[in-house]
Amino acid sequence: MTTSTSTTPRLDGAGPDTVSALLRQIADVGRDRARGGYSRPVYGDAELTLREWFVAAAEARGLDVETDGNGIIWAWWSAPGQERENAVATGSHLDSVPGGGPFDGPLGVASALVAVDELRRRGVTPARPIVIAVFPEEEGSRFGVATLGSRLLTGAITPERALALKDAEGDTLADVLARSAHGAQGTHGTHGTFGRDDTRLRQLGLFVELHVEQGLGLQPLGEPIAVGASILGHGRWLLRLTGQGNHAGTTLMQGRQDPVVAASRIVVSIRDLARATDGARATVGRVEATPGGTNVIASKVEVSLDVRHPDDAVTAALVQRIATAAELIAAEEGCAVTLTEQSLSPTVAFDAGLRDRLLEALPGVPVLDTGAGHDAGILASDVPTAMIFVRNPTGISHSPEELIEDSDAERGAAALADALQHLAGPSAPATVEG
Ligand code: GLV
Ligand code: MN
Ligand code: MN
Repeated sequence: MTTSTSTTPRLDGAGPDTVSALLRQIADVGRDRARGGYSRPVYGDAELTLREWFVAAAEARGLDVETDGNGIIWAWWSAPGQERENAVATGSHLDSVPGGGPFDGPLGVASALVAVDELRRRGVTPARPIVIAVFPEEEGSRFGVATLGSRLLTGAITPERALALKDAEGDTLADVLARSAHGAQGTHGTHGTFGRDDTRLRQLGLFVELHVEQGLGLQPLGEPIAVGASILGHGRWLLRLTGQGNHAGTTLMQGRQDPVVAASRIVVSIRDLARATDGARATVGRVEATPGGTNVIASKVEVSLDVRHPDDAVTAALVQRIATAAELIAAEEGCAVTLTEQSLSPTVAFDAGLRDRLLEALPGVPVLDTGAGHDAGILASDVPTAMIFVRNPTGISHSPEELIEDSDAERGAAALADALQHLAGPSAPATVEG
């Protein structure tokens, strides 16, 4: 059984803060004692607590905070009378995978707050508004579709499909939002558009997301910061196997229709098919048998599938081969199988002009591709986007072993401040305000 805990974090002040100090404020929120690390599913107690923490931290800094109809929180720093247009947006997410690390998402949010503190310390008055965004359900760990908030914002998913998505308890997104005062269409959110929001998109001039690096690109280079080049194309599918539930003691081994056996063979064949496809990555991270008793032959099994490849046609062909293999294996085991697509994101090359402007602000930093998905990849359909990665000495992510050294966290926020200052102009005055 999974247990997660949530305590209300204390907000120590209106800044300036360090990234490490901000992350310490939320270090006890959503700890998962069973899995290790953090489980902060969207609109669950822990994620809602983090959203409150962010709103309080942003308001304490005098930012103007609104939660839109898609459940995205926006915290604006704009001069009095300044139009909310052509904004320089930054931010990330506060939800996590089950048993995730502390940095995937919150690092980008905390760094954005610290970058605002830093720009104020430098006496910068941005010519363009700066806005910090917190996106809901980036991981898709509750409703199955990753980057759900940015997909809704850009129209990459229809509102109807999103509202019908179900979590493990069988609650739809519509149910959860109706109960939540924080999410879209809750008591705070009824004022906003649910689904593609052209008004919001027109306010955004660009988006830069700072994120923990989720591989070992920077560590061997001895560099703390990188600028992103591209996001690997990726998608999610669900395999549903059905067999004949029965008694473990009275059912002979011959003639069983055991979907767990079929699922196990399918998992191995997914690994083999991916290995035979140059550059492909395929992962089964969840196998769930129903009813799930030790002395029970299962009647159903759900198998998650994540496939990634730079070439979307190769992904499609690999998934087709997996579907064919799954059907064959299921039939051999007397079972049936269906395969349903949950989400598909093509490979995204970040905006080259924006990347070059980031490199003007951060001269000499390496440029890295990433195999991980991000809201910056989805927003790229409508807004120039870019990413800044911060060194992770373990190279491990989506795991409690994910790591950022305190000094690198502060370097990351300083790099983000440099980037925002360069992008939002004008530069700092000669005398810095105290
Ligand atoms: C999100 O982190 C993903 O890459 O799935
Ligand atoms: Mn992330
Ligand atoms: Mn992640």
